[in-house]
Amino acid sequence: MKKSDVVNTIFHNDIPHIPQREKGLAFAPTNIALCKYWGKRDTELHLPVTSSLSIALPDKGTMTTLRLHDQPIDHVVVNDQALSPESAFVKRLVEFLDLFRPEKKWYVQIDIHINIPIAAGLASSASGFASLVLALNNLFGWELSHHYLSILARLGSGSAARSFWLGFVEWHAGVQPDGMDSYAEPLDIEWPQLCVGLLTIDASEKIISSREAMQHTVNSSVLYGNWPKKVIQDLAIIKQALKVKNFPLLGGTAESNALTMHATMLSSWPPICYFLPETIAAMHRIWALRRDKLELYFTEDAGPNLKLLFLKEDFDHVSAQFPRMEKVSVFDS
Ligand code: DP6
Repeated sequence: MKKSDVVNTIFHNDIPHIPQREKGLAFAPTNIALCKYWGKRDTELHLPVTSSLSIALPDKGTMTTLRLHDQPIDHVVVNDQALSPESAFVKRLVEFLDLFRPEKKWYVQIDIHINIPIAAGLASSASGFASLVLALNNLFGWELSHHYLSILARLGSGSAARSFWLGFVEWHAGVQPDGMDSYAEPLDIEWPQLCVGLLTIDASEKIISSREAMQHTVNSSVLYGNWPKKVIQDLAIIKQALKVKNFPLLGGTAESNALTMHATMLSSWPPICYFLPETIAAMHRIWALRRDKLELYFTEDAGPNLKLLFLKEDFDHVSAQFPRMEKVSVFDS
């Protein structure tokens, strides 16, 4: 099954191509997985091996503006800088847009404003593809529900399926070959005391993309076979911890889930290691603080940066220990 088959199923072979307004404009927040997506059952449609669960960062993400223009090429501008049509980023966007214009009837000027480092393990592609799909929906008046937009954004990047809502979001792995049952939806849970802090250790672009690292792990890690079992357990525990607001259970399970994901990467060959010495030093500080009874946990994605998890009441203590940490809104924006 190809991506274009999924698009045709959703649009019943009739993709709208007449703009309904002068420009399409949309913001999508980035999301941080507390239970990770790592490995695909279908690499074309980005269908995951397991379900996953994330928390949105409402003030961090991507604003995309689309305007049709007459030139037969798409122009991409990121944070006011025009990108070369030859860049890998532009090629990936153009390939995605092509899914929605099989007859090449339109081209766009794409203005992207993103307030997180790009490709540094801070889920920039998740908010990027979600905001692009929302902007297309806005420009062409698709009037699709977030359910279908989640499926469409997944075709750009898996974790983008989760970037359509604030708060906690679960992406269901699904079992169908066409992936129509692999979409995300929000959980009806708020936790205003929960805080996320970004501990940026290195904001430069990662050496190996999460896409490549994920596939390499599936192909070569001797530990990967145990990963789906671990996720099933962790997901159930995290959902229970959210329900009863048990923070140590949430933090501990999210941290263990992230470390197990990194263990699968370390056991792949050639190995993949996103930890930098400063990442490991920060982990040891966190573990030492926990031994001193501070409820502080972390999660880490495909990059060296940590996302700290703690409760509002501990903010002063945590920020005294990590003065460079940026506290980000979760429920209180
Ligand atoms: C470690 O969604 O970037 O952040 O589907 O290939 O685009 P593709 O991968 P991507 O992978 C995200 C991996 C992760 C974990 C997560 O967000 O769940």
